[in-house]
Amino acid sequence: MLKELIFLTLLQYSRSLLSDPICTNGYTLVNNKCLKLFIDKVTYKNAERNCMDVGATLVTVKNAIDNHAISTVAGSSANTIWMGLFCLDSDPSKCLWDDSTVSAELYSNFAPGFPHVDVGKCVYYSSQGALTGKWISGDCDMDKLAYICELPYTHADDCQYNYNGHCYSFYDAPLPFTQAQEKCEKECGNLASIHSPNENRYLATLSNRLISGYNIYIGGMWPLPNVFNWIDGSQWSYNNIDPSYSHGPNCMTISNSKSSSVASGFWFSMNCYQANAFICKTPTGTKCPANQPVVQVTPVPYNPSFCNNSILLAPGVISSPDFPLPYSGFQSCTYQLSTLGSFNILLRFSDFQLESGKDFVKVYDGSSENSKLLGSFTGQEDAFALVSSGNTMLVTFKTGSTKGSAGFSARYTPYSFSR
Ligand SMILES: *[C@@H]1O[C@H](CO)[C@@H](O)[C@H](O)[C@H]1NC(C)=O
Repeated sequence: MLKELIFLTLLQYSRSLLSDPICTNGYTLVNNKCLKLFIDKVTYKNAERNCMDVGATLVTVKNAIDNHAISTVAGSSANTIWMGLFCLDSDPSKCLWDDSTVSAELYSNFAPGFPHVDVGKCVYYSSQGALTGKWISGDCDMDKLAYICELPYTHADDCQYNYNGHCYSFYDAPLPFTQAQEKCEKECGNLASIHSPNENRYLATLSNRLISGYNIYIGGMWPLPNVFNWIDGSQWSYNNIDPSYSHGPNCMTISNSKSSSVASGFWFSMNCYQANAFICKTPTGTKCPANQPVVQVTPVPYNPSFCNNSILLAPGVISSPDFPLPYSGFQSCTYQLSTLGSFNILLRFSDFQLESGKDFVKVYDGSSENSKLLGSFTGQEDAFALVSSGNTMLVTFKTGSTKGSAGFSARYTPYSFSR
């Protein structure tokens, strides 16, 4: 199935590469980049914000040809133009391009005496007079200048959100991960993979405008702490997981600005059965038949549940088999948890959804089912936690029903009572 998916994707890519590059949003193709000059004079921040409205950045200049292109675009309409370059210090290697790629160490064309951060940390381009083509430091907040925005080129398609060779669609009506992916497949695409800071910025900007939900599914899957996959089979080449976030459930979301807990554009994972808004991505030029057959995907790679494993040493995560996909009927699992020395075990359930009265999780304060029962749980529960009195804990999961629910996931960590 994966092979078919990759083959289809390749087919679509090769088709889109055949068509000519075009620019969207009234931008002009110059040396394989899409540029647009804005002659209203604004601060650096406002210039950047205006570019971002369509997912663009301020213009970046990585070589002499790019540099010359700016004069061409500016013509005689503007003589000073903000570029997407910000200097932390008076040294080109400390100046960073707006697209978060590289510093200006590899190529720069500063006028003598610049960059000079005492004058300002932002940088503008002079397109007239003796300093034509040279870069000069400017005050980010005080100086008001014309500016040029930059977008990557794309290929012809009548879709509304066409960026860098792909069409994106934004769905505000929430669906679980698997159903969201099926919806994307019906339009011959996949849940969106993201491969650069610019693509991430484009999607974050449009999501803020088009989606009201806090969390938005993208096509990322995070089955293990260091394992990441894109559902479209592309390489995991860029990562924007919220750095304060450690591995949790499997399905990746991007946060929009309405979320208070995660900054806009950062990724974090959620349980795949939760319904969220989502973004689909399809190569431009894809002609999708009306009744596109949907490949039944199992989006989440095998996730070890540690059911019946020998002793599990804290810290770790246990779950029902196949979590976050529903477990199947008639399961019997034991999880033998332990920790070292004088520690206790803190067992924290983050997800809990079983068939009420038929399927049970039991937690014992010791190493066998003869130990004291700390609790027996069924149905749906909010997050909850239990603590052992010693350094072992036994968890059992027994199901009587034929059909499974979403299951449970719990993290166990060494814990020390403060005395
Ligand atoms: C776990 O062990 C129990 C008891 O031996 C067995 O009935 C059950 O099928 C096992 N479960 C799995 C998933 O291996």
